[in-house]
This record gives sequence, structure tokens and C-alpha cells, in this order.
Amino acid sequence: MTSSSSARAVAHSNIALSKYWGKADIGRNMPAVPSLSMTLSGMFTETVVSFSPNLADDELVLNGRVTSDKERVRVVRGLDLVRQEAGIAQRARVQSRNNFPTASGLASSASGFAALILAARAACGLPDDRAVSSALARQCSASAARSVYGGFVALPLGAESAVRVDAPSAFDVELLVAVTAEGAKSVGSTEGMVHTRQTSPYYPAWVEHAPVLYEKAITALTAGNFGALGPLVEQSALLMHASMLGADPAIIYWSDATLQVIHAVRSLRAEGLVGYFTMDAGPHVKVLVRREQAQALTERLGAVSGVKRVMRCGVGPDASIEAGVVQLSETATA
Ligand code: PMV
Repeated sequence: MTSSSSARAVAHSNIALSKYWGKADIGRNMPAVPSLSMTLSGMFTETVVSFSPNLADDELVLNGRVTSDKERVRVVRGLDLVRQEAGIAQRARVQSRNNFPTASGLASSASGFAALILAARAACGLPDDRAVSSALARQCSASAARSVYGGFVALPLGAESAVRVDAPSAFDVELLVAVTAEGAKSVGSTEGMVHTRQTSPYYPAWVEHAPVLYEKAITALTAGNFGALGPLVEQSALLMHASMLGADPAIIYWSDATLQVIHAVRSLRAEGLVGYFTMDAGPHVKVLVRREQAQALTERLGAVSGVKRVMRCGVGPDASIEAGVVQLSETATA
């Protein structure tokens, strides 16, 4: 272990524009389909990892609460990957907080595991190699592989790590998050993916078609073509949810409010307020919009029945790391 055995990392959440659902290799957590995401400003996890010779076990304090063994399992697995890379055996104290609801389909595992791996590697004195961190984060939660980078990020099929995707600077978008419920989601994503693969007749069709949408989405994004990207974003989410609806029993993450927002987005589009929806493993709806229409769409979506609030997220930054920090900041900023 080198001089510094503590470090802090801040990683931003991301939302997939072209979705990942299903695992090709459960042991190594390799996705069955490629994915493309936007890192979000304003929604982040801040994590401090401190390795110590005095700890008998790894400890996790999440949002100020000491967690159970069950909650700790995946975090211990992430720490084990870093310990293996660094060649150390010391246990760690992990303090982590999200500035948005945990485990609710708002991608807390993406920012959470990215921040964990980045902080743990820095605390061990390992060099800041984002490709390595992305690969380790992927083994905890595949969407976390994408949160080590800001901007737009792809996790290509069969890749160990995520890569940046450059959009033209004129491509000025926001993602509006219409929060439709508070509280934890009903079915975890890993469990949902396994169940879909095992029981849904639509799963093979999803795995076959997702790469086609992904390739088209990359082309539209790199060309800065909002009008071409939007329908692909919607289709990716709907095909993913269709594969879950075909499972036995069906996985239904949507609530009444989810559908209300989907219909509102479609009718607002007909009025010239152009947004494209996407949904993950939860009832919230995220809407991709042009920045110049973000305020108007935020107001209109906020008035939809069942919507509790709408969060405006711009394109977020790279995750950041600070070595030698032992405490969470009083108020971390986005
Ligand atoms: O990486 P996980 O286990 O959090 O799964 C993410 C799954 C989706 O959010 C539904 C889609 C995605 O690509 O982020």
C-alpha cells in the first residue's frame, strides 16, 4: 500500500439511450447487447473509501446508514476486485451517498459502483486508468462501466470497458427525469434480466434487434441528428420492456403515471414541443429534449397526473477522484 489509503470519488449517474438488458456471461457480468448512454449532470454518488489494517470486515455506510450484510455483498465484491488488482488484503470502510433516490430505477447502481471502484483504486494508490476502472465497475453493474466517463458513452458488445462517443458541440440536449414514485423498485435488474432470458419468448428477438438500434443510435448521435436519435431511443426502451412483458410472470415496471407521461410526450410532440421518452427498471420516465425546449417541457410534464417532480439534467462530466480524503464532503456539488 502506498502513502494514501483513502480517496474520494464523485461519479454521475447515466441513462441508456440504447438499452442494456440481459447477460451473455453472468459470472463475468458481460452484457448480451451493446448500450449507449448519456451521463447526467446533477445526479451523482459521492463515495469515500478508506483501507485500514484495523478493520476485521468491510463496512458500508450508505446515505448515513450502516448497511446489512445483504446490501454489502456487491460492494465487497467490488472491493475484492480492487484488492486483487492491488495485491492487498486490508478491509475498507466505505461511506457513500446519492443526491437522488437509491435503487428506484434512477441508476444509483451505475454512479454508485463507478464511484466505489474509482475511489477504492485511488485509495490503493493505483494509477487513474479509466479503462481498467470501467472494466471493474462493469463486473459490479454493467451500467456502472459507463459512469466513469462524462458525455455520451458506449459499452460495445463483448467489450470489457466503456468508451466515449463524441457528439458535435452543437448537439445541445437535456434529459428530463419525470419522477413518478418514491421508494425502491420491485424487481432488481439482475433478477429481472435472468428471469426475462429464462422465460420470455421475446428475449431472443430483443438480443437480435438491440445491436441494430445501437448502431443506428451511434450514427445519429455522432452526426448530431436529434430527430433521428429520438425515435431510436424510444424504440430501444419499448423493445426492452416488451421482452420483460413477455416473461412468465411478466415484469411490469410501469405505473399509471408512466403511461400518462408517455402519452403526454407523444401529444406534446404533435404540438411542436419535441421530446423522446425512455424508461428503465422502474416507473420513472426520462425524456430527451433539446435544451431550448427544456424549460417549456419541464413545466408541461410537471403538470401530468402522477408526476411528483421533474428533474432537469444536462450532459454530465467525467467522474472525479481526490486521493487522501477521509470524509464525505458537507455538500458535494454536481
Ligand atoms: O447495470 P444494471 O444492473 O444497473 O442494469 C441496467 C439496466 C437498465 O438501466 C434497464 C438499462 C441500461 O442500459 O442502463
